[in-house]
Amino acid sequence: MPAIVLIGAQWGDEGKGKATDLLGGQYGWVVRYQGGNNAGHTVVTPDGRDFALKLIPSGILTPGVKNVIGNGVVVNPEALIEEKEGLERRGVDTSGLLISADAHLIMPYHVAIDRVTERYLGKAKIGTTGRGIGPAYGDKVARVGVRVADLLDEKILHQKVEAALELKNQILVKVYNRRALDLDEVVDTVLEQSTKFADKIVDTRLLLNQALERGETILLEGSQGTLLDVDHGTYPFVTSSNPTAGGAAVGSGIGPTRIDRVIGILKAYTTRVGSGPFPTELHDEMGERLRKVGGEIGVNTGRERRCGWFDAVIGRYAARVNGITDFFLTKLDVLSGLDAVPICVGYEIDGRHVDEMPMTQTDLHHAVPVYEEMPGWFEDLSACRTFDELPQAARDYVLRLEELTGAPMSAIGVGPGRDQTITREV
Ligand code: IMP
Repeated sequence: MPAIVLIGAQWGDEGKGKATDLLGGQYGWVVRYQGGNNAGHTVVTPDGRDFALKLIPSGILTPGVKNVIGNGVVVNPEALIEEKEGLERRGVDTSGLLISADAHLIMPYHVAIDRVTERYLGKAKIGTTGRGIGPAYGDKVARVGVRVADLLDEKILHQKVEAALELKNQILVKVYNRRALDLDEVVDTVLEQSTKFADKIVDTRLLLNQALERGETILLEGSQGTLLDVDHGTYPFVTSSNPTAGGAAVGSGIGPTRIDRVIGILKAYTTRVGSGPFPTELHDEMGERLRKVGGEIGVNTGRERRCGWFDAVIGRYAARVNGITDFFLTKLDVLSGLDAVPICVGYEIDGRHVDEMPMTQTDLHHAVPVYEEMPGWFEDLSACRTFDELPQAARDYVLRLEELTGAPMSAIGVGPGRDQTITREV
């Protein structure tokens, strides 16, 4: 199996960390292809230790695996060092970490601009993680970004930061009434930081393609999720990169013909953090119950996640735009104890029935979910290890999700533990 893509099928936080773990041992490389330290993957190692990863690929916890921060990622040097050293302090070997020379850097002015922009947007804010992600990608596309390779050439770095700061300082001072950043201080700080990872900077695109030629398997690990994709998500309430499967090829330098499996991680209900439309969101005690039982608090920012019922329109949309071969369904156990479990099968928009993702932002904002109720179950699922051990109602729920989304569920999570997963031949 040459290259596998693993992506979130909803708004992120579907439990990708555990999914990566499930594939353990099947790959020699793990690549992050987009996003930055806005992500948060919780991974539990075989010895039961919990790790919250933000920027570094989750394969870092598996000895012998090579971990690549791909060209599509935006790297905050300070966050990288902090995470890398934090892992080392806990005895994790980080020698297998490699960083693409083409990845862009998140500079201090990106973080400053992210935060002030959000404040200026007021009620229209995106609810970003405040990590400078949007401004860094903005500079990349505007062709005024600073790349990891620039850290290897002080003169070029100085020139690029000088050019960037000329405009950024005007914006910070004149528009946002903030302090200007000092050129030498910015350059000296990143240069000093780069000494801690300069030996990791390589042409990862070449190495990955050579690995594929040797028949090695690569796991392309997406962060965030389909509906946070800047092209296919709920724009403008999205992140600034492409978590969808197509982004995996661009953000790693691997050709799309090399990818033969796309796994979508799908939560048995829906959550999102930050602002933006969310048709099945529950504002009542049921939403509170899902948040509590599901432990729906952001790994990275500590924010409470908004919670709601499963939305099959979104699941079907994710299957389509990513070319999903199979889903890993997570957190089915959280739904135990309900008389009935509603599934959103379509929307009512201004008197029209709609089964697919609305074309306009206005329609999505006006979408009222149409629910189908499935019988609930009261049994604790946490000890189930085969599909047949699940109560009939839970099995029916899973089978209905398969029908509605159009893709098979090859794994089902029934608890946070490593072994609390049911795998199925599909
Ligand atoms: P940004 O990525 O920090 O620019 O934030 C843009 C939007 O993406 C906000 O709604 C964030 O809450 C959301 N977001 C970013 N990273 C994650 C993640 O890892 N999980 C869930 N939501 C995320």
